[in-house]
Amino acid sequence: MTGAGVAPAVGRVIFTQAQIAEAVQRLASAIAATHRGQLLVLVGVLKGGACLISDLARALSAVPGGPSAIMVQHIVVSRYRGSTASDAPVEIIADSGRSLEGANVVLADAIVDRGLTLAALQALFKARRPATLRTCVLVDKPARRTAAIVPDYCGLQAPDAFVIGYGLDYKEWYRNLPYLAELREEQTV
Ligand code: IMP
Ligand code: MG
Repeated sequence: MTGAGVAPAVGRVIFTQAQIAEAVQRLASAIAATHRGQLLVLVGVLKGGACLISDLARALSAVPGGPSAIMVQHIVVSRYRGSTASDAPVEIIADSGRSLEGANVVLADAIVDRGLTLAALQALFKARRPATLRTCVLVDKPARRTAAIVPDYCGLQAPDAFVIGYGLDYKEWYRNLPYLAELREEQTV
């Protein structure tokens, strides 16, 4: 399927669809509490953050007493370039470049691993001089952190495993899974 006689396969489920939904609700409540009555710009980090940003944006609009209005933007980045290797630099593939001066911004990504992606994006967005800049991740994998990054909002803590589903891929596969699972590699014949 993906070449070289090795087909990635879905391993143990780490977080179910219900656990993810509950975590997204918690994130929405926490973000709403800090941005009460404010104009909020939610920036989804794609492609991994696609499911999160779409669920989080809608969950936020259902929290009473949250932001007065929400704008959703996206930034497309690439880290792994189709592999599980984690030393590739962060590459910005697409960016609206829209002015964020004086804005209240929350960057939302599905996962923080080494922290290099979020650290790079934090620096990029800080340079746009927002009034506030916070980071939100659904899944934290703190075991392999090399950048000094502590997300302001964190939904779930995962073990040090390669995780697929809910927007997260292995070589672009499996983003569609509604749950989060470990990647398992199997020999094919
Ligand atoms: P970091 O820069 O090492 O924190 O990596 C963060 C980025 O790498 C995320 O935005 C994901 O796209 C990707 N990533 C990190 N860990 C995983 C994983 O376990 N599964 C899938 N993608 C991951
Ligand atoms: Mg990926």
